[in-house]
Amino acid sequence: MKALVVPKEQAETVRLRLLELGCLDTKRKLSKKGEHLEIPFTGAVPPEFGSYQVVWPDDAKYYEPEPTLRDLVREYLDHDKLALLPGGWQMIGDIVVISLHSDLYPEKELVGDAMLKLYPYCKSVYLDGGISGKLRRPRRELVVVRDGVDDPAVTVHNENGCRFRLDVTKVMFSKGNLREKMRMSRLGEGGAEGAGEVVVDMFAGIGYFTIPMAVHSHPDKIVAIEINPGSYHYLVENIRLNGVEGIVEPVLGDCAEMTPGSSADRVIMGYVGNTCHYLKYGIKALRSGGILHYHDTVPVHLVPSRPTGQIRDEACKQGRRAEILGWHRIKKYSPGVWHVVVDARIE
Ligand SMILES: C[S@@+](CC[C@H](N)C(=O)[O-])C[C@H]1O[C@@H](n2cnc3c(N)ncnc32)[C@H](O)[C@@H]1O
Repeated sequence: MKALVVPKEQAETVRLRLLELGCLDTKRKLSKKGEHLEIPFTGAVPPEFGSYQVVWPDDAKYYEPEPTLRDLVREYLDHDKLALLPGGWQMIGDIVVISLHSDLYPEKELVGDAMLKLYPYCKSVYLDGGISGKLRRPRRELVVVRDGVDDPAVTVHNENGCRFRLDVTKVMFSKGNLREKMRMSRLGEGGAEGAGEVVVDMFAGIGYFTIPMAVHSHPDKIVAIEINPGSYHYLVENIRLNGVEGIVEPVLGDCAEMTPGSSADRVIMGYVGNTCHYLKYGIKALRSGGILHYHDTVPVHLVPSRPTGQIRDEACKQGRRAEILGWHRIKKYSPGVWHVVVDARIE
């Protein structure tokens, strides 16, 4: 009977994410408390929502029970296959993206049809095969599409008051870092002498950090660099869709070549894998006193010493000094490895 207390403008984003994670309590209704909503959930608080208050309301109201995925396919699958049904999935705009155990693969259309019944506003269901390579290209297979839909892969996803248009077969949409995207959306206002900041987003994708920061914090300028032409195409569309053409300057290319030098108040390095290869460009881009947000995947026993050491070493090589302001875990990346972000001031 627990609920997360969430500011009302963030409530829909958090509700959808809890639904995907399989821990929204769909039997209970949300309740409004002043400027907040109490969102009922089950199980442990997902780490990405660790900063929200948890309450145990004594005035819970219940919905009439809705059918579940299991209810919809029960009569067609045996007990073993029912046990393999996924407990969660991703909703990107009006598209469902689902991972299936290989033993359920022959049943993918049955599951896909059931998903369209569960979500009458959704137009298609894709099977997820993971994301690979430097360009973060997803492997996705169309399973079912509603009659009459001619662009099953293209959608507009609403998150944190921003709109993201994308093709789910061409570009990733990372939802595991919602808390970090919200944090970034509150930064960028305070540049030198009252002006907004100059920000460089070195791995901009379709604008995951750039768009919320531009929409909510109105920095002076964000230089958003993206190497994948497919993602860049949607970055440009999303700048227009969110009306931030006057703030965001999109750049198609490799940030190792396109990152501007020594002018930025803030640099976002939102990429994992071998982010350290690009650290010298990120640090060079910062004016004295500028802030770096450095992401990487790190074995747990090297958190935070490896990324903080890399930042200090690179600053030192450039004859500068790094003050580590803090770090936090974004998510578990693989067994024993975390995705973390370190914030540092570079003098
Ligand atoms: C992980 S995605 C974007 C992640 C996003 N910041 C987030 O956290 O949701 C990283 C993006 O960096 C782009 N990328 C990879 N290497 C790059 C490079 N050298 N220069 C510019 N962009 C690059 C990829 O194409 C991808 O769109």
